[in-house]
Amino acid sequence: MLTAEQNERLTRVGPGTPMGELMRRYWHPIAASVELSDDNPTKEVRLLGEDLVLFRSAAGEIGLIEPSCAHRKANLSYGIPEPEGIRCAYHGWLYDIHGQCLDQPSEPEGSRFKEKVKLKAYLAEELGGLIFAYMGPEPAPLLPRYDMLVWPGVRDVDVCMLPCNWLQCHENSLDPLHFQWLHRYYGGYVMNRKKPQAERDAWNLRTLTKGADHHKIGFEKTSYGVIKRRLIGDETEEDDNWRLGHPVFFPNILRIGINLQFRVPVDDTHTLHLMLNWRALKDGEEQPGVVPYQEIPVYDEDGRIKGDWVVGQDQTAWIIQGAITDRTTERLGVTDIGLIMYRRMLEEQMQVVADGGDPLNTHRDPVENEIIMVPCERFEYPGYEGIPGGPFKDIVVHNDVEAVLSGDGVKRPEFVK
Ligand code: FES
Ligand SMILES: [Fe+2]
Repeated sequence: MLTAEQNERLTRVGPGTPMGELMRRYWHPIAASVELSDDNPTKEVRLLGEDLVLFRSAAGEIGLIEPSCAHRKANLSYGIPEPEGIRCAYHGWLYDIHGQCLDQPSEPEGSRFKEKVKLKAYLAEELGGLIFAYMGPEPAPLLPRYDMLVWPGVRDVDVCMLPCNWLQCHENSLDPLHFQWLHRYYGGYVMNRKKPQAERDAWNLRTLTKGADHHKIGFEKTSYGVIKRRLIGDETEEDDNWRLGHPVFFPNILRIGINLQFRVPVDDTHTLHLMLNWRALKDGEEQPGVVPYQEIPVYDEDGRIKGDWVVGQDQTAWIIQGAITDRTTERLGVTDIGLIMYRRMLEEQMQVVADGGDPLNTHRDPVENEIIMVPCERFEYPGYEGIPGGPFKDIVVHNDVEAVLSGDGVKRPEFVK
């Protein structure tokens, strides 16, 4: 359990809070590139407790500025893009991507008033079909070039807006055991009641391996975050699941095989769950020009959180903990060693920021940032086809914390034969 103060420090992300200040040292995806189109060149966004307007100028530059025009406060999401920036719908004041007012058409000729008008503005950059924002002090660190954002391949983006705090979403990444229960058992239970036999059977097969009983879990601190490891079913410590594990990028990204999951803190009680999916090009396939984007509903027709897909089950678990998990009354067990370690890392890194330093997994060396590749289980690295672990095949396990679990109590939905 945590004290109320500790829980507040870990979960509150608004301006001036310790976690908000830590989060402002990172680039966060806030939209897919295709969302800013000719038809719709602006988007209202909210990030780290601040409302903002994202826009693409007629020259193609991306701006991220405070939403209200300095003149009479009209919302600039109704603005008109021009080559220099965005022009307010109400009386035509023009702002560039730095928030500087460039034109006040009806002020007297020669007036220098516009020079004194500047809106708050943040940095925005595009990579891999996503638009990322940086709201911290300058000079900004480099936008991390995670491999799936950079490799040639086919990408698409799924997003869900969730009514809960970012940390309960991300703590789930430090909790391998939940696969056995939430996905295998609860997921099977939902499918059993909702889906036809063929879909149930397919689900059952999909969750058979990873949903086996967990015998051991382990967590290793790395320069980019954590490697999460699990030993399940009949696997040995030579298996990918144990040796390579899953990467968890600090502070709020999970990598699973071909999928990067960003848990973007919108405010204290909302999280944008943004998933970037990637696959290698097939022989002769051309690199697609655009990265499609879709918003996935969180709730079913019956108003319940969707439990018929893996991420929907994860989201169920996050949302049903409440808007902000009450960590003052929780009772953690040995299966929770990973998230306990992660909370300490968050505390340490909040202190690094308070002391004026660069926190974990911020990048300033362009050579090192050219492409960020890390070990990941059961993933075929481009250029290393057929070699499990690719460039990381010889990885040696150095867990910082480990726990042996009983492995008992694997419960399966009734339909499972
Ligand atoms: S309110 Fe924007 S120009 Fe008047
Ligand atoms: Fe999960």
